[in-house]
Amino acid sequence: PPRFRNVSELIRKVLPKETFNLLREIGKIADREGVNAYIVGGFVRDLIIGRENFDIDIVVEGDATEFAKVVGRELGAKVHTFSRFKTATLVFKDGTRIDMASARTEVYKFPGALPEVDIAPLKKDLFRRDFTINTLSVKINYSDFGKLIDFFGGLKDIKDKKIRVLHSLSFVEDPTRILRALRFSVRYRFELGKHTEKLLKMAVEKKLFKTVEGQRIYHELKQILLEDNPLRVFLRLEKYRLIEELFPGLRWNREKKDTFERVRKLIIWHRINFPERKTDYHLVYLGALFFKEPLERVKSYLSSLSFPEKEGKKLLKFLDEIYGTYRALKSSNLPSEVYKTLRGREEEFLLLLAALFPDVEEKVVNFMRDWRFVEPLVSGKDIKELGLKPGPAFKEILNRIKYEIIDGRVSREDREEQYSRLKEMVVGKVSPSN
Ligand code: CTP
Repeated sequence: PPRFRNVSELIRKVLPKETFNLLREIGKIADREGVNAYIVGGFVRDLIIGRENFDIDIVVEGDATEFAKVVGRELGAKVHTFSRFKTATLVFKDGTRIDMASARTEVYKFPGALPEVDIAPLKKDLFRRDFTINTLSVKINYSDFGKLIDFFGGLKDIKDKKIRVLHSLSFVEDPTRILRALRFSVRYRFELGKHTEKLLKMAVEKKLFKTVEGQRIYHELKQILLEDNPLRVFLRLEKYRLIEELFPGLRWNREKKDTFERVRKLIIWHRINFPERKTDYHLVYLGALFFKEPLERVKSYLSSLSFPEKEGKKLLKFLDEIYGTYRALKSSNLPSEVYKTLRGREEEFLLLLAALFPDVEEKVVNFMRDWRFVEPLVSGKDIKELGLKPGPAFKEILNRIKYEIIDGRVSREDREEQYSRLKEMVVGKVSPSN
């Protein structure tokens, strides 16, 4: 029998006040509309585990699209509905997003089919999910707000730190869950349940990945690479002989593991120092994974995993150019030469470069931290005042000043010093007739 406990105060504690109030309001509307509404999945799991998560998924016993429209109207949110799946996304004025889905029952299976009333639609919906830890839900109807519902022992498994499937066919029905199991086990430091591990191994042996759309595997791979420590997940992939399944022929050796470790450290550094730069960190790991692999092989991975076109192109370009860039850096003695080699390069490329080649890491990091931000305090206006006609020489002169600042030959803060250096350069260019 399901066990109940109230987690309303816990939710109040973890959510911004506005979001919490929103849920209360949605609960009121649910009462009035005569539907049951529940928060489900990852949010509830992370609420209990104590990990931050603001992705709220609501399941409605009833028509979620209709319900979402009412909520949107009353609480002033934009509603995007996807009628084919009976789901909706609400976007509130402050940017908060809430997803709603209809509890999936078999009611719509064929015309005239009788609704199955023996099992609560919510329970049936949850039974289709991957692991017990993802089957917890919290009722939000006003009268029952915060009631935690645990049909499948998710609470106990969280307490025991176990990843468990709900039934023996789980991995067969959806082999991407194999990757999810390993990802969650690393993220939460949970073990696989004994039976679950056996099922996972059997699924691997049956080579079930062959039957999955590449795009779905790509999605899970990306999720893994966006975790805090992808190397740990990869070590489990290795343990269950999944690297070979995902990337036939790939070399997964000490060198690559070390690079993964270095990528991780650089990403942590980057996140702290450049939080505003939107960076596809998973691309850095993919570059590290595919470095030194034959080009044709990389291309076959990209196509079998249906990499998004743009991403695949970017990755191939990185792999094509990175060694040349490394050579150029290695023979650069002046910071300005490093600057010229690296300016305009993508964040992901720079991180990959630093991770793959420790002997130029310092140069790359200095460029990223400092040199790329150097701007002279003198400008085209100064050059004009010195009597030179505007033209391509302007840019060239200002660049030369910039290089001298980067190399420490001209002060970065002293405008006077920069100005006299500028004067020297301009005088050489100004013709007597000017
Ligand atoms: N789910 C599933 N099988 C999958 C993918 C997802 O059963 N192959 C279910 C899970 O139960 C999960 C829900 O769908 O709770 C939503 O999945 P997802 O969007 O991946 O969210 P989270 O579980 O919250 O994962 P994460 O914390 O990584 O976002």
